[in-house]
Amino acid sequence: MVMAESHLPLFFALVAVALSVFYYVFTQYRRLPPFPVVNAYRNDFNRAKAHHEYQTRARELVSTGLAQHHGRPFTIITPNGPKVILSSALSDWVKNNKDLDHPALVRDDFLAGYSGFNAQTVLHEGSQVVNLIKSKLSKNETHISVMNTHITGVLDQSWGADQSWHSIDWQKDTTSLISHAAASVFVGPHLAKNPEWQSLTNKYVMNYFTALGQIREWPAPLWPVAHLFNPLSRTCRHDMKRARIMITEELRRRKSEETHSTLPYNDTIEWLSAAAGEKPIDLGAMQLALAIAALFTTSEALRQTILEICKHTDIVSPLRNEVEEAIAQHGWTTAALIKMRLMDSVMKEAQRTLPASVGLERKALRDTMMPDGVKIPAGTHIAVDASLMWSPEVYASPETFDARRYLDLREKTGSPAHAFTATSKEHITFGQGRSVCPGRFFAETDMKLCLAQILLKYDFRLEETYKSTSIVMGFYPVVDPFVKVEVRRRNASRI
Ligand code: HEM
Repeated sequence: MVMAESHLPLFFALVAVALSVFYYVFTQYRRLPPFPVVNAYRNDFNRAKAHHEYQTRARELVSTGLAQHHGRPFTIITPNGPKVILSSALSDWVKNNKDLDHPALVRDDFLAGYSGFNAQTVLHEGSQVVNLIKSKLSKNETHISVMNTHITGVLDQSWGADQSWHSIDWQKDTTSLISHAAASVFVGPHLAKNPEWQSLTNKYVMNYFTALGQIREWPAPLWPVAHLFNPLSRTCRHDMKRARIMITEELRRRKSEETHSTLPYNDTIEWLSAAAGEKPIDLGAMQLALAIAALFTTSEALRQTILEICKHTDIVSPLRNEVEEAIAQHGWTTAALIKMRLMDSVMKEAQRTLPASVGLERKALRDTMMPDGVKIPAGTHIAVDASLMWSPEVYASPETFDARRYLDLREKTGSPAHAFTATSKEHITFGQGRSVCPGRFFAETDMKLCLAQILLKYDFRLEETYKSTSIVMGFYPVVDPFVKVEVRRRNASRI
């Protein structure tokens, strides 16, 4: 039978769809690593059920996999592709293995190289931003006063001087505190106070991560096309251009100022420019790179710490006393922040009580043999079970928030191995090894300054009937974004 000419386009369209589906199913299954899958289900051709199970029950999938396979590697299917989970007994091996690479994994998972996502590209392809964080951003005394001024500004404006209890905008205010303090060192005081810059950097971070989720709802071969038409990706492309323009204007403004002032700027714009010398650099993308690395991570850690303090009101007084003593003795300096050891312990314990299910995510750059001789093929994504963070064999009463847990360990052992910025396989929130988070010292400074000012200036509490619940998103939990917190300005303050 001859097909009517008018049906030909439809025929070709159907063939194209069938080939795409075949290609998708084929590539998805071909990509499975040679380890048993714990979330494979009958007739789940598009993996909708596998993804749903991952999004809602990742931690159970990890513990089930470990139990079922007696600690041997197994696979969890995620929207980013299959991840091979290794037992925590292998964390030292992963940490030290040069064939297992963190930046390569991030480039795959976070679509580095896509237009508008250039922030991720500069963060995990070049080494300029990571080198800058390691050298200039860590433990730099000169940041403290400028960061403090910006924190004061945000608190005065958002929480105010009202001495009666009033509600705050939890997500917005906590983000704003971290974002203003960080920006004062990233782009300097002028741009940090610019509402357009603040809105652009925060919006970019949220839009970028949301766009990634939306793009991944499509079959992998269609991601580049989905990205082209995704409205949030389009906004990222626009914001990337705008960031570059704003940085260029800032550089021009500084140049015009030079005749009036001899004061050098002490921020990442200057440091990155100096390090690049004559080589061209994308300062706009680098600034958004710092934003995606620093803003959400640190403001989440701040929120989780404030939430735990709200739930354990008995620690407010000791924390305040510690801050007052440290500031009275050392002023607002690094020495004062180092003295805030109870606060350090509270921050670390807050991280422990909202842990990710896995850590040390890596990509195998080439075939690599595990200590028992089993091969992890090149290209495989791996992650290490993080359950030591809540194991009763490591921590007494692991389900309980113990504000002094790490302080007591520090005092008992006399070792800084239990400080907020220290990492170990029992506390892998900042990772370990070559790619251990280089921004953790900066995060510590940012968080301690925010918490110290909040404690000295405000009383704060959870609204009486509010019960907070964290949100699970696969391996990573998110602090309840709807927490209802009330504050009132304190009378007495030595600040
Ligand atoms: C409490 C806040 C933060 C948390 C929980 C956090 C967590 C992490 C984790 C888990 C890694 C991967 C480490 C590994 O797998 O071994 C990482 C890497 C990284 N972090 Fe952070 N981070 C935080 C704050 C920051 C800040 C403030 C910055 C920048 C100023 C930053 C910059 C980076 C960079 C550039 C990397 C990639 C390092 C590399 O690939 O070599 N982070 N972070």
